[in-house]
Amino acid sequence: MQHDDSWIGATLRATRDLTPGIREFTLVPDEGALAYPTGAHLRIRLDVAGRMTVRHYSLVGAAPRDGAWRIAVQREDAGRGGSRAMWALQPGARLTISRPASHFELAAGATEVLLLAGGIGITPILGMAEALSRRAARFRLLYAGRTRAAMAYLPELAAMLGDALVVCAEDEAGRPDLDAIFAALTPGGEAYVCGPIGLLGAARRAWTAAGRPPASLVFETFGSSGNATPRDFTVRIPRLGREVLVPADSSMLDALEAAGIGVLSDCRRGECGLCALEVLAVEGSIDHRDVFFSDRQHAEGRRICACVSRVAGAGITIDPPWRGDASLTPGQEGQRQPGLTG
Ligand code: FES
Repeated sequence: MQHDDSWIGATLRATRDLTPGIREFTLVPDEGALAYPTGAHLRIRLDVAGRMTVRHYSLVGAAPRDGAWRIAVQREDAGRGGSRAMWALQPGARLTISRPASHFELAAGATEVLLLAGGIGITPILGMAEALSRRAARFRLLYAGRTRAAMAYLPELAAMLGDALVVCAEDEAGRPDLDAIFAALTPGGEAYVCGPIGLLGAARRAWTAAGRPPASLVFETFGSSGNATPRDFTVRIPRLGREVLVPADSSMLDALEAAGIGVLSDCRRGECGLCALEVLAVEGSIDHRDVFFSDRQHAEGRRICACVSRVAGAGITIDPPWRGDASLTPGQEGQRQPGLTG
């Protein structure tokens, strides 16, 4: 996906706590809140512990409301700091944001649509549900979460969707039976999934096992959910003669960029694969958090998506794919490598 890299100003009009851990932010862009496609997100520039970083947030709802865009942010106390920076904002705060863009758009013409949201993954799915309701399309929304109290927008969704909303609270009914859910979908049906990496992996496996076409499963992740608690680790790049510490609250991509080592990237959510780097060795294990590589590629561990994946352990040694003139100095060599410069 190509981004429109022009940034615009916006004002935070209001915040609203949807659950104890999820807060809605109403943003008024200076140039007016234009319409956006389903599944759209915007990017926000945030100062996280003195470093300017960019975070992506899905827009809530199928259209602007009262001249404003809405996003919802789950507070992640053990995360990289973006959500804490968002939660520190007060109404009236000035922000620098991007215009909305979507790579998670709802297609037209499916015989039936299944929307599957896990936790904060409801944010792009809610607008899809609104759009499908308006089209009088045949669809269901399966909304999974730990407890009802932790699931945002439940009252609005229940009022809008009635029986088309299926709530799967883990403390009541366990995790959703994706095999049964996909089996009940009509031939030609499509599924749109947004949620944590575990849900996406399970959906992908169940979809494949059901013999359904891969292109009919459309998914988006928020790229921050992994198997291990984030901790510091070291990235070694022997051909550049460099070692970079990745703090627990930073992505590997952000740390490399902060060290002056440029890595090609686009989505920064583990979806496009552009930031993937070759792995030479790992001290510990890779906590893959991308949806670009297959389960088999994750198990092989030959490449890592630097924007979201981390190391559970002391460190990782990487090497860019380019093999070139050994007479170049490490700095010059780095500048000629596709995918990594520094
Ligand atoms: S930038 Fe897209 S997967 Fe990392």
